[in-house]
Amino acid sequence: MKDLKWWQTAVFYQIYPRSFADSNGDGIGDFTGIIENLDYLASLGVDALWLSPHFPSPNWDCGYDISDYQNVAPEYGTLEDFKHFLTEAHKRNLRVILDLVLNHTSDEHPWFLESKSSKDNPKADWYVWVDTPPNNWQSCFDGEAWTYAPERGQYYYHYFMKQQPDLNWHNPAVKQAMWDAARFWLDLGVDGYRLDAIGTIFEDPDLTPHDVPMNLAGLRRFSELAQTDEEKKLRDKYWYDMFKNQWGQPGTHNLMKELRAILDEYDGDRVLVGEDDNIAFMGDGSDELHMVFNFPLMRTEKINPEHVRKNQSERLEQLQALPNPGWPCNTLGNHDCSRIYTRYGDRLHDGELARLHVALVLALRGTPFLYYGEEIGMSDYLLANIHQVKDTMGSWYYQTLVNEMKVDSQEAMQRTAEMTRDKNRTPMQWSSDPNAGFSPADATTWLPINPNYEKGINTREQDQNPDSLLNYYRRLIKVRKATIALVNGDYKPIHASAEQYFAFLRTFETQSALVVLNFSESQLRLNFSDIAEVKGKSLRTLFSSAVRSPVEPAPELITFSPFEAFIAEVK
Ligand code: GLC
Repeated sequence: MKDLKWWQTAVFYQIYPRSFADSNGDGIGDFTGIIENLDYLASLGVDALWLSPHFPSPNWDCGYDISDYQNVAPEYGTLEDFKHFLTEAHKRNLRVILDLVLNHTSDEHPWFLESKSSKDNPKADWYVWVDTPPNNWQSCFDGEAWTYAPERGQYYYHYFMKQQPDLNWHNPAVKQAMWDAARFWLDLGVDGYRLDAIGTIFEDPDLTPHDVPMNLAGLRRFSELAQTDEEKKLRDKYWYDMFKNQWGQPGTHNLMKELRAILDEYDGDRVLVGEDDNIAFMGDGSDELHMVFNFPLMRTEKINPEHVRKNQSERLEQLQALPNPGWPCNTLGNHDCSRIYTRYGDRLHDGELARLHVALVLALRGTPFLYYGEEIGMSDYLLANIHQVKDTMGSWYYQTLVNEMKVDSQEAMQRTAEMTRDKNRTPMQWSSDPNAGFSPADATTWLPINPNYEKGINTREQDQNPDSLLNYYRRLIKVRKATIALVNGDYKPIHASAEQYFAFLRTFETQSALVVLNFSESQLRLNFSDIAEVKGKSLRTLFSSAVRSPVEPAPELITFSPFEAFIAEVK
């Protein structure tokens, strides 16, 4: 594709290693399992994989608490297995990016064990230590942000769980150690990184306390009970105010520049994608990150035309304003939030909406990121029992609700099941065999499997059905890749006040594509002859979620089915 880098034309697919495929029957996904399914991923048509952390970890935060940055968690395999995986992925033209967690390590990392052992060891200031908690800062996962380490007689700071102590990035030795870790995998040939939680690397140097009149548990409860618009506004303000002094500090930009310079030493256009929506992390467009996620797109209760248009006009304008215009990156789901199928469904037209939502992500300007299982319509699975909960922030919240807030245990469990990220991390559903073909029949999987795998929500059955969601994804990805206007074209919204549908043009040089997404349950008859680019032309159907003729001879009167996703070349 003309003048674009591989990461601009690629469709990315996020793999959560623990839940992808279990080859050895221990109930946990592993590299051999991923390798066995690379052909599946190639058949889906994706070009790049993002792996959530695969490093050794005590798993208080499902791998985001790393105890060795240069190795593979034994449950996932060995370093040799990783290398084999990388070779096999590359053989199929699948690029691989890893998760780089810079803000914190595990409290079992040897760096932290040494740091907490005394006040004067060689790593004494690798983490953030104080004699007494200097303020009321909260950890966004489990309450107080300062935890006492009796060995050292001091408190350490953690933005996330207490098992995830924040590194002291003011210390050049920390930086060096982390850059070494980054180089380790780049030397092995990985194609880049998704950067975890970069906003939280530095804190307000004045340690300014927050002024929200409650602690984290109180705020969570307040959020659950917020009903009116006013309460919801206050809820959002409280969340912002509680943590505003603990992230978003300017020093991060220099770090990102240093990391970018390291990547640029390597061949093959290695890429950095930030887990942050702040476009400032792209620097001047060429000296920090290559992309940041467009999270504001998914920060809504419902995807509707007005929301998307507003989002696109703001984002694209900001990206364009950079000295070197930035490239967008769109996604609707990942391992931290309710699955797209559940979150944006309406329980009546979930299947239709899922088709509309992926068409949106694949037709917008920018690199799309998909989350494993969304291509077969995997949905949230709510756990029924506290002993099943693996996401520690869930167990912490349950205990707090029951023990401190005296909430009835049944209600506490329901709230916990809804808030914990376990619901959207259940094992991939490969077939209708026992354990969904994820693990052998006699294994106990690390999280329960959503029983809907027996009702067609699995890859094997959908593979054989031409009308399945899986085959819809395949067709759509193929059309995107074959249509330069969809990959590289600019974006122009049309009929910009329409409430029922979202229509836009994507144009690159001589090719123009018209995209119409009917978000309503009504049939629509629309006229596009008022649009200069379309007037007098015919529309050659490239893709539709409905059955329609290959050519719409005139744009004056086109009928769209309820929830139809339609893409046509303007000829
Ligand atoms: C990021 C990850 C999330 C993790 C957190 C702490 O937000 O996406 O899963 O819990 O960072 O590492």
